[in-house]
Amino acid sequence: MSNMKNLNGNDSSELLFERSKKVVPGGVHSPVRSFKGLDMSPRFISRAEGAYLWDESGKNYIDFCMSFGPLILGHQHPEVKRVIIDALDRGWSFGACEKYSLALAEFIVKKIPFIDQIRFVNSGTEAVMAAIRIAKGYTKREKILKFEGCYHGHLDSMLIKSGSGLAGEGESTSAGVGAESISNTLVCPLGDEEKLRFLFETQGQEIAAIILEPLPANYGLLKQNINFIKFLRTLCDQYQSLLIFDEVISGFRIAFGGMAEVTNIVPDIITYGKVIGGGMPVGAIAGKKHIMEMLAPVGPVYQAGTLSANPVAMSAGLKQLEILAEPGFYQNLEALSKKIENMWVRFFEQHRDKFSPSHVIREGSLFWFAPSLDQSGNSLPRPSNTSHFSTSIMSSFYPLFHFLLERGVYLAPNAYEVGFVSTAHANVLEELSLRLGIESE
Ligand SMILES: Cc1ncc(COP(=O)(O)O)c(C=O)c1O
Repeated sequence: MSNMKNLNGNDSSELLFERSKKVVPGGVHSPVRSFKGLDMSPRFISRAEGAYLWDESGKNYIDFCMSFGPLILGHQHPEVKRVIIDALDRGWSFGACEKYSLALAEFIVKKIPFIDQIRFVNSGTEAVMAAIRIAKGYTKREKILKFEGCYHGHLDSMLIKSGSGLAGEGESTSAGVGAESISNTLVCPLGDEEKLRFLFETQGQEIAAIILEPLPANYGLLKQNINFIKFLRTLCDQYQSLLIFDEVISGFRIAFGGMAEVTNIVPDIITYGKVIGGGMPVGAIAGKKHIMEMLAPVGPVYQAGTLSANPVAMSAGLKQLEILAEPGFYQNLEALSKKIENMWVRFFEQHRDKFSPSHVIREGSLFWFAPSLDQSGNSLPRPSNTSHFSTSIMSSFYPLFHFLLERGVYLAPNAYEVGFVSTAHANVLEELSLRLGIESE
């Protein structure tokens, strides 16, 4: 505690964190919340509304973390809040069939032409776990191919990064991941068509599916060339492997139909999370009927959940998606996100002396600051692959994060996390320019 920065005198986050560390591993329930590498204790948040968070000391922050993505309408959106309160009045878990998940399923199936069926679970991780099991059951194959730099939740077979060999074999990124999980996951760099061709030529008959974040947003924001994604579709068709789009971040955020809609490339299975639940714990697996009906009780692939399709979460998700489906929603969010992008560009220009030069990278309402110069002062391109920038970006993120936090702007506490714009940010643009110390436009 001695070397932790205290932002203001009566801040109690430090004390709460000390208490928390005694009863919770590392003091947190998800590692990134710990502010690791940032030399301070995490802020304990007492409440949130619109674009703002308040910590326990009463200090407020303009929030660009937005619960890591679900809150595309901001905190406590009044219409979403209303349906949550109404749902609570009817009871908050039935463990039985109800019409709230039916309404959400019908709404999504009606709006997204390439989805026939959807099943709800409680998190993105659960959705990916089921998608992989479906792919293995459907193809009767064992291997899954993933990409370096894509995150798919914390299931064993996805906690794998590239190993040293040429055959796509990986290494686990976590203790406790067994040899079998490692041996059945192949890892390839994003964009590397040659390696993919080789992996399919040598092991194609064993590959059940390729899983991809079609807009990789968990190692910064690594936008892919559409031809690369088309290549994956062709490769899967050629070898009768399935293509899984993990749209836990991009789904309903980049467009209502996510990256599948934007690219017009139809995957076999899509996983959703975050936005789909309106801020409640929801994930989903979706796809064509013949694939989705692999799931029990129709098919042989088992999947279940005590709290799946919880009526409160389903009601929140449906209300949020109804608002997103209103005409002009994504155009307005794009215009707002563009304004915020411009503000970040001006911020970096104005504070050139303080922070490392950065590309402000944006796709829709996601943004990320990528280094634009390497340590020797050579220009770096906008990255589309993890090898395009060094792994030491935490050190340049540190002063930026502290500067912004002190001025009341909250970024996700890690250099590799993207920022999330919500519609609520429209109400704080002037305040944001003041806090960033830039002239408003
Ligand atoms: C693309 C992607 N897939 C899966 C997950 C896992 O979702 P959850 O944290 O809800 O388990 C995440 C979480 O950030 C994600 O970004």
